[in-house]
Parts: sequence; structure tokens; C-alpha cells
Amino acid sequence: MLTTRIRALLTFAVLIGMSACARPADEVKVPAKPDAPRPRTARVTTSDSAMVVSASPFATNAGLAVLKSGGNAIDAAVAVAMTLAVTYPAAGNLGGGGFMVARIDGKNLALDFREAAPKGASRDMYLDSLGNVTDKSVTGALAAGVPGSVAGLYEAHKKYGTKPWAGLLKTAITLADSGFATDTAFSDDDESGAHRLGLDSTSARLFLKDGKFIPLGTIWKAPGLAATLRRIAEKGRDGFYTGKTADLIVASMKAGGGIITHADLKTFQPIWRAPVEFDYRGHHVISMPPVSSGGLTLGLILGILEHRDLASLGWRTPRSIHVLAEAERRAFARRNTLLGDPAFVKIPVESFLSKDTATALAAEIGERSSGSAPSVPPKDKRHTTHFSVVDAKGNAVAITTTINESYGSAFTVAGAEFLLNDEMDDFTVKVGAVNAMGLVQGSTNEIVPGKRMLSSMTPTIVLDPSGAPLLVAGAAGGAYIITAVAHLIVSVIDYRQPIGAAMAAPQFHHQDNPDSLVVENIPWADSARAFMLPLGHGVKVSPWGSLANVQVIHRDGGVWRGVSEPRGFGLAAGY
Ligand code: DON
Repeated sequence: MLTTRIRALLTFAVLIGMSACARPADEVKVPAKPDAPRPRTARVTTSDSAMVVSASPFATNAGLAVLKSGGNAIDAAVAVAMTLAVTYPAAGNLGGGGFMVARIDGKNLALDFREAAPKGASRDMYLDSLGNVTDKSVTGALAAGVPGSVAGLYEAHKKYGTKPWAGLLKTAITLADSGFATDTAFSDDDESGAHRLGLDSTSARLFLKDGKFIPLGTIWKAPGLAATLRRIAEKGRDGFYTGKTADLIVASMKAGGGIITHADLKTFQPIWRAPVEFDYRGHHVISMPPVSSGGLTLGLILGILEHRDLASLGWRTPRSIHVLAEAERRAFARRNTLLGDPAFVKIPVESFLSKDTATALAAEIGERSSGSAPSVPPKDKRHTTHFSVVDAKGNAVAITTTINESYGSAFTVAGAEFLLNDEMDDFTVKVGAVNAMGLVQGSTNEIVPGKRMLSSMTPTIVLDPSGAPLLVAGAAGGAYIITAVAHLIVSVIDYRQPIGAAMAAPQFHHQDNPDSLVVENIPWADSARAFMLPLGHGVKVSPWGSLANVQVIHRDGGVWRGVSEPRGFGLAAGY
């Protein structure tokens, strides 16, 4: 007779597709969350020359059309981003910011277009008179940092684009002008999103009907947004940061109690940075440096893991999950206390990328959970969006862009019809307080005028040992982004899993505080709990079902293989 533990082990093994070196078929079924009607499958799209993967089919198709007409990966990325700003309002944006990691003509690049604190911001601006955190860093005009997306895309295109800028916005303008039938991605949130949008009359008019998200299949038009896009098409960054769009932003700030001024907008500049680069088991990883925590935290996680023979521990077995979780815990403990905007704090790069640090931390990892500081409950909310592009010349672009939570601050710029971010909540609003991403951060990330808030976004390119792109990846999901990218790299490099299997596998995450594994809400969670508890790990099931939303391109068997997050509604397409 099987004991409960052995039965659970078998369930666990079957559910995760198991063993170290097995190569399951590309179409891999894993159980969907309990309330979903069908098992989840990761759909893999293959192509010979070029590929786009994004969270919105409209955006993927816009990017693909640009590639087919001879545009390069940067041109396509601009079209994807601008289309996402129309068809995926939960995360696609004009009113947010982001990061690009790219490899163009063999050159590795990182562009920071993260939002900045307005000049009128101050350290305690989101605390009440008793020092308690208010909700003003998440909802309403005051939650917005100075948007960076338009400046970033314009800068990337100015340096590396090949097609005329205005043409790249054409699809986005047409969709906003003529309308399109809303798909699932359009209303990608729950009722709390609808509630927040209902607090702002322009947001409510654009996105809600009778207090609920407008029904699927509604023809949605936004002439004000189309006009904003047209100004950006005609005037480039000036069409957003000066003139009518800027006037509308500043007017809505005044009406909604925000503090972004004309001067804040005019002086915003994207920043080219040296990417974070390191090697992992003979592969070269290129990722985002601060003010993202992504690249350095990823580097430390993988640096620790390089000391372990993960393949021999098995893929998604309790022992390997334990080792991954312990590496993640240690990297996040540093991430949360040491990082911030490099213009304001000194970044201790050696604490993340030195071999000695990784060796010392790897040596700490024993057979059981080592525990961490007192825990706080995670408050995970969505949304952000990532897209990956490769072109026929082998150029690769990974962009993650965000307005922070779903629908950002839920505050729309009246007349210009785009949502503003609530990125100010990514700062340490109060040392020791938990933010909307479930992170407890330190004083290196406190609010200072002009400073950029720490991010977890991790657009990443991995090169194979010959120096050619192997993975172009990134995700949405706050802190979950970093571990999702790490798991993808480990699944492909250590376990030689096909990309479909890697993407369909159950998700888990550790971020030191709270001291527990967070796991995806699928039946697997019960097995995970049964087997991680004896190793000393608490297990929490994600209240949102899944954790990260990944968009990836993998070079495998001489072709590109694209996978849009199987838990989402996006599309991979190529030619
Ligand atoms: O930059 C960050 O780390 C966050 N603003 C990202 C937010 C996010 O990914 C939300 N979730 N899906």
C-alpha cells in the first residue's frame, strides 16, 4: 500500500514532468488552476528568420508586420510597445516606464527609461500625520512618477531604428481611432481593478460599464488616445513631453492632486547604461543594471547555483526547489537592502557578482531552509508587460515596460486618454513597510526628487557558448520576474528542457521576506507543500493563481521558438 508521502511524491513527479535530462515533447500539459476548465499547454511557435512574442496578439502582429516589411528588431519593438499602449491598458503604456536590453549588430545595450520622482516629491509624501502609509502611492494622480516610455522608445529608435518613426505608430493609431473588439487581455484583472478605475471619471468612462469591465468583444475606441499617438508620431518625444500632451498631463495633475510639472516632463531623459553581464555555465548573460535590481539579483542567484550540480538534483524536485529557493532568499535579502538609483546611492556590485560572494553564500545552503527575518504577507498584484523580438539579422530586443499595478494609478490623463503609472509605490515609501509587490525595502530606495525607483524588471538575453542569442526573455510579476527568468535559464541550460516544458512548469518563488515559498495555485501546490515542509519551507499559494507572465524566444535546433506565457493571452509569431 502506498503511504501518503509516496503517493504525493508520485503526483509531484508526474505533474512536473520530472527527471533531470528527460526531454518531454514540446506540447506539455500541466494542470491548470482548479477553477480553469482545461489543462494548460504551452504553445510553441517556430520560425526560421524572425520572431515577436508579446502579451497581446494585436501587438505581436504589429511587430511582425514591421519585421516582414524589412524593419529591424528595434523598429518592431516600437510598434509592439505602441500597440500594447492601446490594446493592453492593464500594462501597456504611454504613461509608464521600462527597460530595454538589446543586442544590436553584436553590441550589448541597456536603456533605462524608468519613471523618475517629480521634483516636488519628498521622502514621507505617502505617510499620514501619524507616520502610517496611505494608499496615495498606488491610486490617483499623486502615485505617478514622471513617465519614461515615450522618451525611451524614441531614443532607442533614434540610435538604432531603420524605419521612419511615424510609420511604426500607424497600427496603434488605427486601432485607437477605428476601434477593435476587446479581447481577454484588454480586461486582464479582477474586480479590484474595476473598483480603482471607478474612482476616476475618465478611467471609468474608458474602461467600465455599469461599474464592471466593459464586456469582451466590445468595439473599443479612444479618439483622445489616437490624437495623443498622432502627436507623438509627428513630433517624436516632444509630442509627449511638451505641447498639448504635456499641457493635458499637467492640467490633470492639478485636477487630481498630482505634482508632475512641465519642467519634470521636459527634463526627463532616458539613460544608456552598461548592461549587467556575467557568465553562467559557459553561457553569457546580458541583463538590466540598476535602477533595476533584476540583472544583479539574477547574477547572484545564478552565481550561487553554479556551485551546485542542479542536473543531478532533478528538475523541479523537492531538493532542487530547495536549493533554488535558498539561492533566491540570499539574493533577495541583498536586493531589498542594498540597491537603489545609482545616481543617488553607491551600488555594491561585488555583493552580487563577485565569485567570492557567490561561493560563500552557496556554502551556507544546507539540507533544510535556513529561515529569514520576520515575515509579512505578500500583496502581489499585477501588471507589467514584457516582449521579446529577434530579427532576420539576429538582432535581439527584450523590453519590459510597466505602469506598476494593473491599470497603474487607475488615473487617466483627461483628453489624452492614457493611464498614468503608480510607480512611486516601488520606492521605499516607509522603511520596513511592505509595498504592493510584497517587497520590504530599505533606505537606499527612499524617495528623493529626480530619483528613479528600484525595479525588479529583468529583460535578459542569454548567448550560447558561440556568442549567438539563445534566449530572449523577461516577464511581468514584480519580484516574481527575477526568479521566473532564473528558472527559465536553469531549465534550459541545466536541464536541457524544451522551451515549452520550461514555460508550462509549475511556478514558485522565494524572496526572503516573507519566509516562505510562494507557489502557483494548481493542484501541484499540495504536493509542493507536502515535500517542502519537511525541508523547513513554509509554502504559500499565490492568491492570483500564477506568478510571473513570461514572454520568451529560444534558439533551439536551428530555429527560433517563441512562447507567450501559457497562463496569459498573448501570442508568439514569426516568419
Ligand atoms: O518595476 C517593478 O519591479 C514593478 N513596478 C513591476 C510590477 C509588476 O511586474 C506587476 N506585475 N505583474
